Amino acid sequence: MSSPPLVPTSTPSDTAAERSDLPELVVVANRLPVKRVSDGDGTDARWERSPGGLVSALEPVVRVSRTSWVGWTGSPDEPDAPLDAFEHGRIKLYPVPVSLEEQQCYYEGFSNGTLWPLYHDAIFVPQFHERWWEAYATVNRRFAERTAEVAVHGATVWIHDYQLQLVPRMLRELRPDLRIGFFLHIPFPAQELFLRLPWRAQLTDGLLGADVVGFQTAVGAENFRLVAKRLLGARVEGRAVVRAGRRTHVGTYPVGIDADRIRDLALDPATVQRTAEIRAELGNPHTVLLGVDRLDYTKGIEVRLRAYRALLDSGRIDPATTVFVQIAQPSRDEAPGYAETRAMVEQMAGSINGDFGALGGAAVKYLHQSQDLPELVALYRAADVMLVTPFRDGMNLVAKEYVAARVDLDGVLILSEFAGAAHQMRQAVMVNPFDVRGLEDAIDEAVNGDRRQHRRRMATLVRGVHRDDAAWWAEQFMRDLRPEGLPATTPATNVAPTTIAAPGAAGSGTSTEPEPAIDGATVSSQVPA
Ligand code: F6P
Repeated sequence: MSSPPLVPTSTPSDTAAERSDLPELVVVANRLPVKRVSDGDGTDARWERSPGGLVSALEPVVRVSRTSWVGWTGSPDEPDAPLDAFEHGRIKLYPVPVSLEEQQCYYEGFSNGTLWPLYHDAIFVPQFHERWWEAYATVNRRFAERTAEVAVHGATVWIHDYQLQLVPRMLRELRPDLRIGFFLHIPFPAQELFLRLPWRAQLTDGLLGADVVGFQTAVGAENFRLVAKRLLGARVEGRAVVRAGRRTHVGTYPVGIDADRIRDLALDPATVQRTAEIRAELGNPHTVLLGVDRLDYTKGIEVRLRAYRALLDSGRIDPATTVFVQIAQPSRDEAPGYAETRAMVEQMAGSINGDFGALGGAAVKYLHQSQDLPELVALYRAADVMLVTPFRDGMNLVAKEYVAARVDLDGVLILSEFAGAAHQMRQAVMVNPFDVRGLEDAIDEAVNGDRRQHRRRMATLVRGVHRDDAAWWAEQFMRDLRPEGLPATTPATNVAPTTIAAPGAAGSGTSTEPEPAIDGATVSSQVPA
């Protein structure tokens, strides 16, 4: 089967000659940076940029490399008839076929019915099925084999996320000449949770095939070192894990956003106009509260609806002057737990509107739709308060996007202390998403608190998202992945007592390694490792 014609939608591709002196990078991720879209009857297939932040986050490295990308198109294919490689912008894409049954067992099953809930503190009960595991191993092997075919001698390979944890080891065995990095975008759980996995040793060994394994937070990195030691008898030397004579650097690299792009969009007159339209469409309320999430049980959408309802019930918030907008992007409809979460969220939104809405306007505007980035930035600018309240989250880039969009320094970010972003964005109004009363108080504070103080905190947050942006993240990781990037022994880990950051307090945190600096507070010469 050959690929549908490609319509480039990003930067035009350079000639091969222009790029021939650039270093070779192979990105391996579950999804390609484009997805196949076809009109109803499937005849007019074309490729469009995939949703998700990975492609934007990698843009700075792609610019300075000859990049190949190995990934899945997002729709089922025949594994015996792989799609041809094709170019998109500057990137050569190598589709990995995934059959319908594999989509069910590898993607919806093991990735999103076992690993996703387990790694997010088992807030939804993870399911363990041998059949799902076998499909996961089969698809991981296919990714490793495709990568081994594609990579030139000595190339750097950067593998992404929980769907592909066996690939580093499989690839190392096929191609010992490669430099292999792995980055986990979601949390790596506490030992007690990870050890439940019947295939825990295989996954740990899979990751140790890499030269560098990166995590969003120092806690995740430390959890991984501990399980490598306990399950495989590996030796921990400073931040590295050594096993059978091979050293894997285990580091912390909190992912950032392309903050300049968001700022530029926020300043665009078309966005400013759209922001005014949005507020007008909402009835020009005094206060707009906003949530933007994939519709996922980890995101804590229901907890913010519960807190909002309680504030309406008690009269602390007036439905005549306040609107809560919740954008819930459709996601993983067929994976366990998602349909139930959707039903619960929609029931709650409907009930709040039934009790507090008016003929002229709803108390909650709920959209189960994806929005493009310009529309999201206009929404961010329209929102007085942004609610990011996941029960658990690897990072949460929406929190960073909201801040980057607040070029006016207005707006208040309410942020869960269980999002990776909380380790960096300590000037947000921090909440425990399991504490509805606390969330009510946080919303009240955000709406009615001292505006000057909130603006000062926002100014610090804005500086942080620009300094520790996507380019910074990718550069830190690539620097450590270069063969000469790290000394043979990285400095010993300085194990500090675990604490939870107090709301707005800089300098505390859950870290056992130095956290990246906000406002120069914690790190100067230290880099996140
Ligand atoms: O946060 C993890 C992640 O896999 C992202 O990389 C991705 O953008 C998002 O979840 C959506 O995932 P999926 O590919 O399952 O739609």
